[in-house]
Amino acid sequence: MRSLIDITDFSVEELDGLLHTACDIIENPAKYADSCRRKKLATLFFEPSTRTRLSFEAAMLELGGSVIGFSQASSSSASKGESMADTAKILSCYADIMAIRHPLEGAPYVAARNTSVPVINAGDGGHCHPTQTLADLLTIYREEGRLNNLTVGCCGDLKYGRTVHSLLAALSRYENIKVVLISPEELRLPGYVKYEVLDGKGISYEETTSLEEAIPQLDVLYMTRIQRERFDDLETYEHLKDSYILTPEKMQAAKSTMRVLHPLPRVNEISVKVDADPRAAYFRQALNGKYMRMALILKLLDEAKKGVQMPEPEDVLVDRLHCDNPRCICTTEQELEHMFKCVDKERRIYRCIYCEAKKTLED
Ligand code: CP
Repeated sequence: MRSLIDITDFSVEELDGLLHTACDIIENPAKYADSCRRKKLATLFFEPSTRTRLSFEAAMLELGGSVIGFSQASSSSASKGESMADTAKILSCYADIMAIRHPLEGAPYVAARNTSVPVINAGDGGHCHPTQTLADLLTIYREEGRLNNLTVGCCGDLKYGRTVHSLLAALSRYENIKVVLISPEELRLPGYVKYEVLDGKGISYEETTSLEEAIPQLDVLYMTRIQRERFDDLETYEHLKDSYILTPEKMQAAKSTMRVLHPLPRVNEISVKVDADPRAAYFRQALNGKYMRMALILKLLDEAKKGVQMPEPEDVLVDRLHCDNPRCICTTEQELEHMFKCVDKERRIYRCIYCEAKKTLED
């Protein structure tokens, strides 16, 4: 069934369609109050969440549907060793659509391949977070009035920050986008995002360690948290955790029209003193997330009704290359085939279909 695993699963026209539906929901909520009557959403959260899980649940309730699910792995049979594939098969007996957050990269994709209902990736490890991107796009659109002609600064943990990876993949498909990557050396944007997403789409970008130097040119400042849970080594986390703190003093150098976004939760990277600044858009962004999730549920349930299927990847090698990313689902899931998709025929480069790890095919 058609699912949302990666933001690029949707065309720009489809993203624009979701923005249009979300704006209509905001204007005419009563029109949608019964749209999902008798439909059930399952929220399978194997990692903590406040916004994503509860905004999904609020979204389904406001559409007239109902919600089942769990909010931690320990309260599901995953704690007894049940696989993602089996969990997804079971949930499709109980629900019409499911949203999954999981610490392993590719887990929602495994679910989507093993179920008969639409699956929404609600965050898989440090990989993707497409519904956060939907919230980000609606926020930029409502605050700036456009998704083209923007200089966007992404600041903080650009290495493990899945929200940044998904946002850049989405924005790279709009016109005249310039990106400023602001991070410590240790947390720079991964090569595959830089080369495939930014270079691949001809997006102009610069890298810097200085928020102060970058801020005056920005239309959007996308702050992110240094994520303790993604570090194997806590000493490195302690060394990096206070790299960037946005304060009212730093905001003085920003444009009057700049907007500050943050997927939240924040720790200390935005001073609470910034909250009163009208340019601080992060709480409005969390609300926008609910509207975009409503639009997404409507779209995927409508496509499921019409029988629209998820496309099968082409040019795939099965069990010829081995993924050795310890954060990839295929290194832990029982009997899961290792599948690599060709991304560069000439140089024989293949990418794991679950986590994007790359391998070169030797003879
Ligand atoms: N932005 C986001 O994903 O927040 P939660 O972790 O609270 O869901």
